[in-house]
Amino acid sequence: MIEDLEKVLFTEREIRNRIREVAKEISRDYRGRDLMLVAVLKGAVFFLTHLAQSLKIHTRIDFLGIESFSPGKALPGIVRISKDLDLAIQGMDVLVVEDIVDTGLTIRYLLNVLQERHPSSLAVCAFVDKSNRRLVEIPLKYRCFEIPDRFVVGFGLDYDQRYRNLPCLGILKKEIYQKS
Ligand code: IMP
Repeated sequence: MIEDLEKVLFTEREIRNRIREVAKEISRDYRGRDLMLVAVLKGAVFFLTHLAQSLKIHTRIDFLGIESFSPGKALPGIVRISKDLDLAIQGMDVLVVEDIVDTGLTIRYLLNVLQERHPSSLAVCAFVDKSNRRLVEIPLKYRCFEIPDRFVVGFGLDYDQRYRNLPCLGILKKEIYQKS
C-alpha cells in the first residue's frame, strides 16, 4: 500500500501525537460536561477511536452514515443520510468528528440536519482540513492537520474504499486514480 503513495505527509507517530494534543484541548474546553461524539462513517472511525481514547472526559459515541451523489467527479455532490444516529442529541453538547473537510458542503449539510434537533452546542472536529478548497464557510472548532489541495489517503481516508487501514496519511500517486 505504502508504495502507492507519492509522499507521506504525516507518519503514524505524528498523527497520534497531534490527536493527543487536540484531545487535550477538547478535554479542557468540555470539562464537567457530557460530550456526544458524532462520527461520520466510514472515514472518521480511525480518527474517532484514537481521539476518544485520549479524551479525559465522559463521552457518548454515535455514528452517522452518509451517501454522496456526485453528478460529475469535479462537481461537489449532493448528500443524504444513509444511517441516522441511534441517540437523541437534544440538549447535548455535540462534537461532529469528520475525517476531511474539503469543499465543506458535506459538513454544512450535516450541521444543518443536526442543528434542527436542538443540541445545546454543536461544533466540528476535523482530522484533515483542505481549507483552500472551501466553497462554503465552515466553523472548525478543532482540526489536526491542514493540507494542500492533493488527494490523500490513509488513517481512514480512502480511494475506492481502499487505503483506509494505512496507519499514516499520504498523497496518493496520480497514476493510481488516473488509470481507473
Ligand atoms: P466535502 O467536499 O467537504 O463535502 O468533502 C466530501 C468528501 O469528499 C469527504 O468527506 C471525503 O469523503 C471526500 N474527500 C475529499 N477530499 C478527499 C481526499 O483527499 N481523500 C479522500 N477523500 C476525500
